[in-house]
Amino acid sequence: MRLYADREAVLKPLPLSIDETLTLLGGADYVADRALATVLFLALKLKRPLFLEGEAGVGKTEIAKVLARSLGRELIRLQCYEGLDVAGAVYEWNYAGQMMAIRLAEAGGGVDRNALEADLFSERYLVRRPLLRSLEPAPEGPPVLLIDELDRTDEAFEAFLLEVLSDFQVTIPELGTVRAEHPPIVVITSNRTREIHDALKRRCLYHWVDFPDASRELKILKTRVPDASARLSREIVGFVQALRREELFKVPGVAETLDWASALVELDAVALDPALVSDTLGVLLKYQDDIQRMQGTRAKEMLDRVRSELRAAE
Ligand SMILES: Nc1ncnc2c1ncn2[C@@H]1O[C@H](COP(=O)(O)OP(=O)(O)OP(=O)(O)O)[C@@H](O)[C@H]1O
Ligand SMILES: [Mg+2]
Repeated sequence: MRLYADREAVLKPLPLSIDETLTLLGGADYVADRALATVLFLALKLKRPLFLEGEAGVGKTEIAKVLARSLGRELIRLQCYEGLDVAGAVYEWNYAGQMMAIRLAEAGGGVDRNALEADLFSERYLVRRPLLRSLEPAPEGPPVLLIDELDRTDEAFEAFLLEVLSDFQVTIPELGTVRAEHPPIVVITSNRTREIHDALKRRCLYHWVDFPDASRELKILKTRVPDASARLSREIVGFVQALRREELFKVPGVAETLDWASALVELDAVALDPALVSDTLGVLLKYQDDIQRMQGTRAKEMLDRVRSELRAAE
């Protein structure tokens, strides 16, 4: 591995190839496919934000976490929600602290108004939110800025974000402009409950995080729940993959596969059986209609099919 810039000589190196990116993710227990490693490598190399879309529980948020951990960078997370504004995302003033300072100054008498005002709007009373923090210099190098679930915010915030991601600077009227000398590594995620504006997407490299195929899901399971027996793991993956082909209101993500495996290990299971599947479906499916649909004979039929497919593949 080599470094992109001399200044970063003390930093952990960025991967220099797609294979190195795969190794980096693998070292942090993230089993990626080549398409993801490619877009991630390019995002790091070209210093462009990475925009990840996909169903719930497919490992979008985890990518940013793993990246921060394996590059030794701070992870700064901006969790988006409806009504998120500059005060929640960039900065706000510590209003209670300012009021207290005013009271104390008044009680002390002889208030110098100009000095007091300058003090009230100094860094002392500035509350830094994730976007501002991500622009400030850090000894371990630019942080990983995770803007999680962007689809939950409104379009006004998205437009504001577009500006920040264009210039990597924000202006605080009372203090001036803060500009990142070295921009953060930006990962944006969305569950696609609404479309994100093209203007923002254009700034980013885009990747749709799909459900893994059976062989990758088995690798993920072996990595994350190593206590599950080989047979149990294969059956779990076969069953979950079959479930994803069913007409369900909400099919299980990787998160649910891992939860199910952990639950079954807790129950000392070494293989699936129809009763066990029926009793634990609530770990995999979170809608009563889906559970009702899959319980009983349907689960048994599916399990039989999965078993015979596995036997045929042996
Ligand atoms: N490829 C993978 N390798 C290892 N673990 C994975 C992988 N994909 C998902 N996981 C695991 O699945 C779980 C869910 O991942 P994560 O929270 O990142 O999903 P998400 O796509 O952000 O979901 P949501 O949209 O609900 O926020 C995590 O525990 C993560 O470690
Ligand atoms: Mg997430």
